[in-house]
Amino acid sequence: MLIQPPPDIASSEITEERIFLNRREFIHTAAGATLGVATGGLALGKDAEAMSLGQEEIPNVQPGPFGTDEPKNSFEDITSYNNYYEFGLDKRDPSRNAHTLTTSPWTIRVDGHVAKPADYHIEDLLKGIPLEERVYRLRCVEAWSMVIPWVGFPLSTLINRFQPTSKAKYVEFTTVLRLSEMPGARRPVLDWPYVEGLRMDEAMHPLTILAVGLYGKTLLNQNGAPIRLVVPWKYGFKSIKSIVRMRFTADQPRTAWNKATPNEYGFFANVNPTVNHPRWSQRSERRIGRFFRQPTLMFNGYDDQVASLYNGMDLRRFF
Ligand code: MTE
Repeated sequence: MLIQPPPDIASSEITEERIFLNRREFIHTAAGATLGVATGGLALGKDAEAMSLGQEEIPNVQPGPFGTDEPKNSFEDITSYNNYYEFGLDKRDPSRNAHTLTTSPWTIRVDGHVAKPADYHIEDLLKGIPLEERVYRLRCVEAWSMVIPWVGFPLSTLINRFQPTSKAKYVEFTTVLRLSEMPGARRPVLDWPYVEGLRMDEAMHPLTILAVGLYGKTLLNQNGAPIRLVVPWKYGFKSIKSIVRMRFTADQPRTAWNKATPNEYGFFANVNPTVNHPRWSQRSERRIGRFFRQPTLMFNGYDDQVASLYNGMDLRRFF
């Protein structure tokens, strides 16, 4: 993001070609990492042996609402073209490097203005929550996009369990920070750990999910294992990966990208083709895997569902 070239120039095509040429190598690396390293996995009703393989089939996934019927990006694209700066800046770095992250055991600290603050084991958090497939567009601020079949559940389900108090106006999310396992985080690209935030009504919105899988299987590390946020009407950087903390706050959280470059990355980060990034246009996007650009839709096409959240707000100012 910060150091990416403007997306309209041809270098993005070059990157694509490089990725294409190296594809076999990626798959090999990714598969080797998954099978070779006992990263564990989520206890989603599988036995311990299956869990030690890392990426598991998730049973009983029901189709969820709000899905797009556009063609999905391939599993290969979704897992080899990533932004996860803790593992490097190149789109290929996360798929190469993220296997070093240990994702089991995994606990999430819930604190701030809630009746039930605690360090929760992820297995306990997920117990009894039905999982859905949600096919969402992900529109990155760098002006590319993908269609991803997430497996997850509404964030509101968890928030309701934690019982936020009336003082809670925002939720702040934090990604794990482990320098020994995250080579990219040893460089001061951002003020680590990666932090994101949502206003409470955005967090409670039925479109907002926590994802634990995609294409019917648990997430690979490069996509934010074991659990990450997906907010489909906002630019991709809001969809924070590998969450270890959820803090309920009275004040607007200071988010990693907003701290780094406030004039480029606002807190709201709603997909908006009429508000350009200072260094490039947001009017169109390139769907990964397609050649021609396509127009970007207001709120990434989810305006019917979410526009009312921002009634009366000047979206040029609150970008
Ligand atoms: N979360 C963390 N912790 N670190 C990151 O660098 N990148 C964000 C978001 N979540 C990022 C992150 C950006 S810019 C995008 S576009 C999406 O993750 C990409 O998600 P994907 O790689 O699963 O497609």
